[in-house]
Amino acid sequence: MRKKIIAGNWKMNMTYEEGQKLTSEIVQMAKDENLDGVTLVLNPPFPHLYVVKKLIGGTSNIFVGAQNCSDKESGAYTGEVSAPILASFGVDYVIIGHSERREYFKESNELLATKVKQALAAGLTPIFCCGESLDIREAGTHEPNVKYQLTDSLFDLSAEEISKVVIAYEPIWAIGTGKTATAEQAQEMHYALRKHLASKYGKEVADSISILYGGSMKPSNAAELLSKPDVDGGLIGGASLKSRDFIDIAKSY
Ligand code: G3P
Repeated sequence: MRKKIIAGNWKMNMTYEEGQKLTSEIVQMAKDENLDGVTLVLNPPFPHLYVVKKLIGGTSNIFVGAQNCSDKESGAYTGEVSAPILASFGVDYVIIGHSERREYFKESNELLATKVKQALAAGLTPIFCCGESLDIREAGTHEPNVKYQLTDSLFDLSAEEISKVVIAYEPIWAIGTGKTATAEQAQEMHYALRKHLASKYGKEVADSISILYGGSMKPSNAAELLSKPDVDGGLIGGASLKSRDFIDIAKSY
């Protein structure tokens, strides 16, 4: 059974106090309200990770993740944060290949392949992001374009390794725009990506991999998106900064 995951990508938001307040509210709501087996992952900026981990405490369905990790294991790389360092204080997940990092920091498929390997080696669960730009969607070449992102960054992994990876399909034209993909568009791409994974690793492995949707998922549209058979959760940006919205999305299953 695939994990149902609602992950919150805080991006570069929240002061220390705001982050503590948001986390405490989410933890309390998750305790008080039935999330029906949904896994929550909070992905704050690096400085918040330790205190968020502590505030999550012994909850069984809430985890903490980073928004990035280095492609290096250790060394003279000023400003970088390695997967082993993240794992050393209890980080569980790490977002890799978000479109904003691909764009602003020119992260290549090759670099991302190395980051995924680093994360897996450190015992972290990668949330590997993929998705097409608006011009590619309008050209109708989005399926081969996104499939290639998986091929070029993930298909050197073993079946055991890929089984540990969470995929996040995030059409770039839907991120932060309020222009959400329709549930049918999301299902179409998730199904295509799952078939692509099956072509390499077989149906059993492909069917075990959670594929999340990201791109303007809100409480108002989450239920329809999450109702689709190959949509296994969401990677939430703006709506993850409001505890009520984030929990309402998780309860939309
Ligand atoms: O990583 C999730 C993010 O890119 C989606 O952002 O604000 O459209 O939910 P948003």
